[in-house]
Amino acid sequence: MDVIDALNSRQSVRAFKSNPVSKEKLLKIMTAANRAPSWADTQPWEIFVAGGETLSRLRHAFLVRFDEGGAPHPDLERPQGWPPELQRRMDENTAHRFSIMGLGRNNEPARRGNSRRGYEVFGAPVVVFLCLDRRLTPWSIFDVGMVAQSIMLAAKGLGVDSIPAVNLVNYPDLIREELSIPEDLMILLGIALGYADEENIVNKPRSLRRPVEEAVRFIGL
Ligand SMILES: Cc1cc2nc3c(=O)[nH]c(=O)nc-3n(C[C@H](O)[C@H](O)[C@H](O)COP(=O)(O)O)c2cc1C
Repeated sequence: MDVIDALNSRQSVRAFKSNPVSKEKLLKIMTAANRAPSWADTQPWEIFVAGGETLSRLRHAFLVRFDEGGAPHPDLERPQGWPPELQRRMDENTAHRFSIMGLGRNNEPARRGNSRRGYEVFGAPVVVFLCLDRRLTPWSIFDVGMVAQSIMLAAKGLGVDSIPAVNLVNYPDLIREELSIPEDLMILLGIALGYADEENIVNKPRSLRRPVEEAVRFIGL
């Protein structure tokens, strides 16, 4: 698969089959992604890949916390609000997804069930946790972003699907305990990896994009 095809066909998968991803494939994905660029080659990412019994215990702990009504407290604070344009896109995307999934605007139990899927780690057999030393600046988050997309594209190239999700890092204390991640590392983002359950309706919607001519200004070209 060429890079353009990988970019065009990658989409966030919210229901995975339970089939494992081989250690060999994971190593190939992570080796390729580890070539991502970074500020002066600082390579600030610290990555933890969880699967097997470790991930089963974590999934269980997430669900217990979610069902107790545990408030999300990601290490990187969630935005308090969004400028209207971005909020509008977010609302349109959610409405689009939920209408294809047949979830009504006021169907709160169904929506909560949908959120719960995230804490089940979307049924994925593997989750990659991307971490960063707390002393670093937002510049280094760029670097982690680059490694994140590199992981998802390398995965796509090997037939492995993915989703990046803040909800996977909403309870960092649980992750820290299970994976022995030190306090001085911020747990920024989780990426679930696995094979899409193509039949599941949650995987049917394709996300929207504004036209490239609106997002990108070509000047002098
Ligand atoms: C930083 C980040 C955090 C995200 N967190 C979540 C999440 O918690 N739950 C979720 O279902 N999707 C999450 N997503 C996936 C986005 O919703 C998704 O990328 C976006 O809607 C575009 O869809 P696509 O990836 O299928 O193109 C996240 C994506 C990013 C980049």
